[in-house]
Amino acid sequence: MIRSLVLPLFLLVSGPYSEPGARSHLDLMRKDARRNMSVDPPDGEYFYKVALDLKARRVLEIGTSTGYSGAWFAMALKKTGGRLITLEIDPDRHAEAKKNFEAMSLADVVDARLCNALIELPKVEAPLDIVFIDAWKPDYLKYYELVLPKVRAGGVILAHNTKNAAGPMKDFLDRIQKDPAVRTEFLPESAQGLSISWKK
Ligand SMILES: C[S@@+](CC[C@H](N)C(=O)[O-])C[C@H]1O[C@@H](n2cnc3c(N)ncnc32)[C@H](O)[C@@H]1O
Repeated sequence: MIRSLVLPLFLLVSGPYSEPGARSHLDLMRKDARRNMSVDPPDGEYFYKVALDLKARRVLEIGTSTGYSGAWFAMALKKTGGRLITLEIDPDRHAEAKKNFEAMSLADVVDARLCNALIELPKVEAPLDIVFIDAWKPDYLKYYELVLPKVRAGGVILAHNTKNAAGPMKDFLDRIQKDPAVRTEFLPESAQGLSISWKK
C-alpha cells in the first residue's frame, strides 16, 4: 500500500519533470565527461543562468556529444518555454544524447539533429537568443560567420575551449575580440575557457 503511493506522491510533489532528477542524472554523466569531451559544471551552471536571464526561447548548440551541456540549456528552457536545437555529426553520440534527454524528461524541449553543422547551419531559422559553439576547433570561425547574422541584438555567442585549444581557433579568437558587431568577455571560472560574445 505504502509502496504503491510512493510514485504518485513523488509526481505530485515534483511534477512529471523534476529538475533535481535531471541534475542527479547530470552528475552520473560526469563519470564519462572526459570520454565525451563535456564542459565542466561551472560552464553548465553559466549556460543555465544565461538562458534564464535572457528568457531564451531559441538556443542552438554546435557539438552535442552525449548531451551534457545541452541538458543545462534544456533545464532552463523548460522554465522559459524555449527550445534547444543541437547538432552532432557522430551517430553513436547523437543516439546516446537522445537517450540522456529522454532520461531527464528534457526530450520535449530538444531538437537533436544528426548532421554536419557546416551543412545544417544555413538551414537553421533566425532569430536565435544563444548559440553555443563546441565542435571541431579549427572550424570555429566558419560556425561563427554562419550564425552571427541569425543571433538577435542582445543575444550571445558562447564558445568552449578558448584556453586549452586557443591555437587551432586563433583566427576565431582574433575575430571575436576585434569584431565591432560583438562585445566579448571570458568566463573566469571556466577551466578550458569560455568566450562570451554579446551581439550589439
Ligand atoms: C567537445 S564535444 C561536445 C561536448 C558537448 N558540448 C558537452 O559539453 O557535453 C564536440 C562534438 O562535436 C562534434 N562535431 C565535430 N564536428 C562537427 C560538425 N561539423 N558537425 C556536428 N558535430 C560536430 C563531435 O563529434 C563531438 O561529439
